[in-house]
Amino acid sequence: MTTKPCTFDIEQIRADFPILKTVKYKRPLVYFDNGATTQKPQIVIDTLMEYYSTKNSNIHRAVHYMSQVCTHSYESVRKTVKQFINAAYEHEIVFTSGTTESINLVANSFGSRFVVEGDEILVSQLEHHSNIVPWQLMAERQNAKVVMWPMNDKGELRMDLLDGLLNEKTKLVCLNHVSNALGTINPVEEVIRIAHQKNIPVLVDGAQAIQHLKVDVQALDADFYAFSGHKIYGPTGIGVLYGKSKWLEAMPPYKGGGDMVKKVSFEKTTYADLPLKFEAGTANYIDAIALGEAINYIDKIGLEQIASYEHELLLYAEKQLKTIDGVRIFGTSDHKAATVSFTYKNTHPSDLGEMLDKFDIAVRTGSHCAQPLMAYFGIGGTVRMSMSFYNTKEEIDYFVASLKKVCSMLD
Ligand code: ALA
Repeated sequence: MTTKPCTFDIEQIRADFPILKTVKYKRPLVYFDNGATTQKPQIVIDTLMEYYSTKNSNIHRAVHYMSQVCTHSYESVRKTVKQFINAAYEHEIVFTSGTTESINLVANSFGSRFVVEGDEILVSQLEHHSNIVPWQLMAERQNAKVVMWPMNDKGELRMDLLDGLLNEKTKLVCLNHVSNALGTINPVEEVIRIAHQKNIPVLVDGAQAIQHLKVDVQALDADFYAFSGHKIYGPTGIGVLYGKSKWLEAMPPYKGGGDMVKKVSFEKTTYADLPLKFEAGTANYIDAIALGEAINYIDKIGLEQIASYEHELLLYAEKQLKTIDGVRIFGTSDHKAATVSFTYKNTHPSDLGEMLDKFDIAVRTGSHCAQPLMAYFGIGGTVRMSMSFYNTKEEIDYFVASLKKVCSMLD
């Protein structure tokens, strides 16, 4: 990726995020745990307040004014998401509680319809547990097998192995677009092209990509693409599953309840059309509406602009961290989102994390829900600094200076 000079007003952007002004100990928070969750711009917070204070009413059910307003706003967000990821149809956008539920939906529903005894699901070694365990649970139910697709020492998928791992038993390939633990950007377009040559569909976990890269599901030709609202500056508890119509139409409902039916009787129940077939029960409509505002906010800044600025931050952070003796960076691909995962000598990552916290720096430590990946490197975990477009080089300078102090205390 080429870096262009930052042309957006970083001070204005930071002013949009009230939490960045808060002081936990001594100085304003340096928040480098954006891989775990991102902070919320004022417009998202205001939208939640506005709807709960003046508009709240259940959707798709009543004819009264507030219900109509909420239904309209919720369905407009489906349109917003469709445009944001360039899906072909609105009904290909299913609201879920987040990436984990989106993947579980596919594992349950696609699994029960298309996976039989002896079949294989190819899952990359770079995955978060949420893109491993649902497939293991499904494989147990269907007597199928989860096959691991190995990575290399740089934390990149072994593309040289892919063709040999795909066979007539492979029913689905599952991989993330960006690794949460290392930041590697996977060549998903290429993977999908190769899998499709053998008529094998591909599910992409986009939880760590949607906020960093422009995603076009049609250009990727992804069969399924999952992401979470809270990772793209929206609320927790809301997420999206994009699925191609041909798959979603053929898949049975995942959960039963209100709103997902056409007609119910004890003799026979028929199901609603897409996407409601997969949205049983009261939807998380107000969080969905606030997610729409988060997407509009990001869209206004522009993901190309965000990606370019974040890449600048990544190069700056990596360059400085490499100057500290004893720091080892994991994930050394040339294609990375703004995440740096590292260890310091034999220090336990949590000790580093706790000490950095006292300098008002928030990072995540541990295995990052990616134990197979950590096992590959023979480590229990790392310190992960995951950056966002609201972070600055000054914050990186402060982080590196603080880390140096922490390291010398530990020495
Ligand atoms: N999946 C989130 C992370 O990587 C929680 O931190």
